[in-house]
Amino acid sequence: MSDIDKIKQELKKLNLEYAKIKDLAPEERKDFGIKLNKKREELNRKLQEAIDSAEAGEVSPIDITAPTGINQDVKSIPRGTRHPLMTELDKVAEIYNKMGFNVIEAQQLDDEYHMFESLNFPEGHPARDGYDTFRTEEGFIPPAHTSTMQHRALKRFKSDLENGGQIAVVIPGRVFRNEDVDATHEHTFYQCEGIFVSKDATLGQALGVMKKFFETYYGQELNIKTQPGYFPFTEPSLEFLIEKPKSLGGKGDGWLEMLGMGMIHPNVLKMAGIDPTIYKGFAWGGGIDRLVMLKYGLTDVRYFESGKLEFLEEF
Ligand code: DAH
Repeated sequence: MSDIDKIKQELKKLNLEYAKIKDLAPEERKDFGIKLNKKREELNRKLQEAIDSAEAGEVSPIDITAPTGINQDVKSIPRGTRHPLMTELDKVAEIYNKMGFNVIEAQQLDDEYHMFESLNFPEGHPARDGYDTFRTEEGFIPPAHTSTMQHRALKRFKSDLENGGQIAVVIPGRVFRNEDVDATHEHTFYQCEGIFVSKDATLGQALGVMKKFFETYYGQELNIKTQPGYFPFTEPSLEFLIEKPKSLGGKGDGWLEMLGMGMIHPNVLKMAGIDPTIYKGFAWGGGIDRLVMLKYGLTDVRYFESGKLEFLEEF
């Protein structure tokens, strides 16, 4: 029997006691009545308490058999880990940050203007074909490269130039391409963009920043070289290569193309409201996946997006 039922039964018994009053001598009746009333008040209070605690129990039942604290069952549940690309992206951002660059994050959905026009690809420009990506039904564009952020970053930090400083910013982000997926091509991957603008920025400075970045990331000195490239948003445009380090499996003969770079095209500066006759800048952008693959000797980029636990658990 529950506490509530027990109290109700006591109350019922008590009510029967009241019937006895009429059999008592008149002078005894008052005291007897007071005693019964007190008892009834007490039982009613107890009944209310029992009802309250039962209702509270319905909301959050206390299961005294449930395990408390961390026991063996909890410990044996596998814990999630960070995706290796996110960990490495943080390292990349930190290296640039220590060199004095701001870090902002790229958008994952962009528009035609930031994808093309603001980067000096006018409508119908043949180089647009090299950035084949997806579109939403509403016409938004999952960006094919992090360069879509250049225009925004230039505008956002323009006041630093006007105050006598420089624009120095890196922009890591997730990018998308309409690719035939294979061991070296993914539809979804990561890039890091960089922009530097000052009154006297040079290509020599750009190469110095790049070399320093790759040497810090791989923790060793590296041989570098450039070759001509073409991007509508830089002039001149270069491809930046590093010699595959012996410690990372290189045989002293392989050159790896790590990023695209160049001096920011005057039209790109102009569109962001920066006078190209006063200011100059360099920009660069490169894949994070490839950077990480070289570091860990991975041969298939598809692992990153695969969600395979055996792969992820290695990191
Ligand atoms: N966005 C280019 C790509 O994905 C790479 C690139 C080239 C970025 C030159 C730059 C640059 O900022 O100046 O192919």
